[in-house]
Amino acid sequence: MSTKRLTDTPADIGIAAAILADGGLVAFPTETVFGLGADAHNPHAVAGIYAAKGRPSFNPLIVHVADITMAQRYVHWTDTAQQVAQAFWPGPLTLVLPMRGDAGLAPAVTAGLPSVAIRVPRHAIAQAVLRDFGRGIAAPSANPSGKISPTQADHVIQGLDGKIDAVFATSLCDEGLESTILSLLDAPTILRPGTITPSQLADVLGTPPNQRTVTADHDSSAEIQAPGQLLSHYAPNGSVRLNATAWQAGEKRLGFGEVECDLNLSPSGDLREAAANLFIMLHQIDKLSGDKIAVSPIPQIGLGLAINDRLMRAAAPKP
Ligand code: TXA
Ligand code: MG
Repeated sequence: MSTKRLTDTPADIGIAAAILADGGLVAFPTETVFGLGADAHNPHAVAGIYAAKGRPSFNPLIVHVADITMAQRYVHWTDTAQQVAQAFWPGPLTLVLPMRGDAGLAPAVTAGLPSVAIRVPRHAIAQAVLRDFGRGIAAPSANPSGKISPTQADHVIQGLDGKIDAVFATSLCDEGLESTILSLLDAPTILRPGTITPSQLADVLGTPPNQRTVTADHDSSAEIQAPGQLLSHYAPNGSVRLNATAWQAGEKRLGFGEVECDLNLSPSGDLREAAANLFIMLHQIDKLSGDKIAVSPIPQIGLGLAINDRLMRAAAPKP
């Protein structure tokens, strides 16, 4: 198939919604990364996402909705959900909540789980497509499974050209890291760190959320709480060495702060800038010659938690 390039115009928003209604796949920008969208109610369309990405079928998808009212069609809403949604939606927060009996989602969206991961993206194109389409759009990040997430249309095209119906070819993702995932099935628990930090959530919840610690057995489908948190993920082609305080010969150097390097996530040591640059620079450094990448230490505070989570997965041995 040839992948249509869409622009940020009302006419193309309408074309995207029509492709989705027809069971097709459309990659669209959100404020975090590009999503690969399909009609969340259409089992055939959702199967297409897993096929295009080469994604393991035990790894469920996030349902994107336009607003809280649309979210309530799919999940049992709670007071805590209302509190955090009011504070952070639209924005880079995904909530895991019990699925309603009448949700009508394709079973593959939740990989058979009784819960749904749901979020309201802030990006104008994502919002416009959702409003035009009028129901939930299932969308994982628009990259081949296990590879670096796309924050530019070019990244999507590199990974999925010819495998999907259309991609919005103009917009950018300003946050650059995937959403924070907060499970509200039990006591609030962060399943995946993101640009909304534990302390921001604590301010709204009144107490700090639990944080799932990362261990090697996240690679198994038995890790049902965040089954997609595969240990090896965001994988560049070369090996990745973390917390490099000195460079070794032949390494491609991804720096942070005032260091001599090939690419710098943030020369001034700003974590927000580093988060926005991380996937772009991993894509870029992958293309330089050499097969070893080394990365400066990133402070394990605030946004640094999310950056280090992605780096740790980028550095993990590949299956
Ligand atoms: O920022 C984002 O969240 C981006 C944009 C496109 O919205 N999406 C994204 O999707 O990162 P994906 O598929 O790459 O990551 C979704 C994560 C996976 O780790 C998956 O296991 C988890 O959400 N997930 C989905 N449904 C779940 C559920 N019911 N319970 C626990 N985790 C769930
Ligand atoms: Mg992903």
